[in-house]
Amino acid sequence: EQQTLTFDITSNAQPMAEADRLEAFKALGFGTLFSDHMTVVRWSADRGWHSAEVTARAPFPMDPASAVLHYAQEIFEGMKAYRTADGQAVLFRPDQNAERFNQSAKRMGMPEIPEALFVEAVQKLVATDAKWIPEGEGSLYLRPFMFANEPFLGVRPSREFIFCVIASSVGPYFKGGAKPVTIWTSQNFTRAANGGTGAVKCGGNYAASLIAQAEAAEQGCDQVVFLDAAEHKWVEELGGMNVFFVMQDGTLITPPLNGNILPGITRKSLIQLARDEGMTVEERAYSFSEWQADAASGKLKEAFACGTAAVVAAIGKVKFPGGEFTIADGQTGQTTTRLRDLLVNIQRGRSNDRYGWVQPV
Ligand code: COI
Repeated sequence: EQQTLTFDITSNAQPMAEADRLEAFKALGFGTLFSDHMTVVRWSADRGWHSAEVTARAPFPMDPASAVLHYAQEIFEGMKAYRTADGQAVLFRPDQNAERFNQSAKRMGMPEIPEALFVEAVQKLVATDAKWIPEGEGSLYLRPFMFANEPFLGVRPSREFIFCVIASSVGPYFKGGAKPVTIWTSQNFTRAANGGTGAVKCGGNYAASLIAQAEAAEQGCDQVVFLDAAEHKWVEELGGMNVFFVMQDGTLITPPLNGNILPGITRKSLIQLARDEGMTVEERAYSFSEWQADAASGKLKEAFACGTAAVVAAIGKVKFPGGEFTIADGQTGQTTTRLRDLLVNIQRGRSNDRYGWVQPV
């Protein structure tokens, strides 16, 4: 049922003034400054994908019975557009986001979107709002998402969906910028259980993580780390990013994709980069007690969080109810810096894209 859709393009009649945009670029945080346009594509059971457009960013009029408001049938993606030194706007592995989006759609009883249509929807927005890609270390964070929009209170998959892409000019995800982050270990809450939705990017996973993330903030931490639901023993992932450990012998360890962990595109890219650098990467279960013991013995040299929003962020300290431990000297380690640079230099067109990961818009 591949359909070719033509995008209607309507310019925002009241775009933000250039001076205001440039002023806003001076103090970029994460996810508060939005571009002038959005892409919208609609789906209904009888028409399939239709009505593709790029239009002024605006609220959706929504029926109070809209299914998403009741049963949270919603999925999303996170990706970024970068500006290379020669001014070209580029995307990083957009095909991977399209593929994961469809994995999420399947799990959530939602229609899959043709990969080419997903990528085109993103590209059209980036092309329209290219001036929203900040210079320097900032980027344009892209948020494709889809939600159930049928006004119906029965519990079954919706027969109407809206797919939308919005864009936000961003700087660092963490308030401390490039400073190592502090992690809170959640005892009271789990993120995902076998057979659940932990491996897909649905809004509900993040809704369920908020209270644990709030607990982390109360403890003065930047992110929460979740342990597995069954044994409360194995490190799974952080509130919104994957985690890696760097051992003394240079081996990298990251929790395996066991169905409860989000298959991060940054995670996957770093594994490949590290292996191609000659490092050993083990995707294996790593327990919280090993983490604590390895930090104490010095066997663990570095740990870092990674994701599209956070990029690669060193973990300096880990807190848990009744204690805390520091990883090595609590600073950003060499391997973390090396992997971050390898990744970022490809993303920003500063080094040869030998993998074909970068796509011009
Ligand atoms: C991303 O890294 O893009 C995410 O979707 C995670 C969220 C913490 C912003």
